[in-house]
Amino acid sequence: MTDEIDFEVDAEDLDQVATQKEVGEPSLVVDDLSVTYRIVGGGHAPTETAGSLLRRVVGRGRRHVGAVHEVKAIRNVSFVARQGEAIGILGINGSGKSTLLRAIAGLVPSSGGSVYSVGAPSLLGVNAVLMSQLSGERNIMVGGLAMGLSPKEVNARFDDIVEFSGIGDSVYLPMRTYSSGMAARLRFAISAAATPDILMIDEALATGDADFRQRSKERMDAIRDHASTVFLVSHSIATVASMCTRAMWLDHGRLVMDGPVGDVTAAYAEFIRAKHRERDAARGEQASGH
Ligand SMILES: Nc1ncnc2c1ncn2[C@@H]1O[C@H](COP(=O)(O)OP(=O)(O)OP(=O)(O)O)[C@@H](O)[C@H]1O
Ligand SMILES: [Mg+2]
Repeated sequence: MTDEIDFEVDAEDLDQVATQKEVGEPSLVVDDLSVTYRIVGGGHAPTETAGSLLRRVVGRGRRHVGAVHEVKAIRNVSFVARQGEAIGILGINGSGKSTLLRAIAGLVPSSGGSVYSVGAPSLLGVNAVLMSQLSGERNIMVGGLAMGLSPKEVNARFDDIVEFSGIGDSVYLPMRTYSSGMAARLRFAISAAATPDILMIDEALATGDADFRQRSKERMDAIRDHASTVFLVSHSIATVASMCTRAMWLDHGRLVMDGPVGDVTAAYAEFIRAKHRERDAARGEQASGH
């Protein structure tokens, strides 16, 4: 995993502000949630000399092949989300954003705490079930069913989904032939076709152009009008600033800040700038031979 940080600031996004809606009843309560991944047999240093390999083969090495390595991906996170809120989730690579959404959707087991939700949060549907060997067309059906639509409803929305995704006739080709941007846009279009109580979007918007972002925002607004809550993970601070009313910042699995989107994006942007300065300083030292 790289430590790359996207810090794109898109001027056209900056003057947009998320539409404020009346905030309603709680839709999701996350109470002291922790998620720990257990990786069996992981955690070995990649350096392998002939000697150590031989020792391992003859069984005298100290390395324990079945060692269990633990990653605390989410640590004691608590918050309440309400109907009508659009919540952005910020954090550098590996900070636990996807894990948090997956745990809310019930796709990974928690190691502590609880999640209470109104209806079924849907992230699951789509990301979990789409199959790269199937055409976009088949995946729209599979994904739509996973989102709780009937086959009839999927057929009725098919044209809208294709139009929204902007993938055109590629919808009849296998998804493995899609660029990551096309696949992400199709995933978003399928997830947004239903109106779930809680919609969770992980990174899907980064790949779209300004026009796609505008349509996405309108769709998110429409979903929020139906008393739903939207979660949006994005590396783009500008995207979160323009699409969300509230933001959470995760770092090493901890919720370090949760509040109005302007406050959180400002603090996070400052953190990223400091990180870049540190990195530039370290590079400078290396370059000057220290
Ligand atoms: N299936 C898995 N098995 C083991 N460890 C995992 C698994 N998925 C994620 N992790 C680890 O959990 C931590 C959090 O990962 P996660 O994918 O939630 O981060 P993220 O914030 O979504 O990162 P990114 O911005 O790169 O998408 C990382 O240390 C990662 O290596
Ligand atoms: Mg992620």
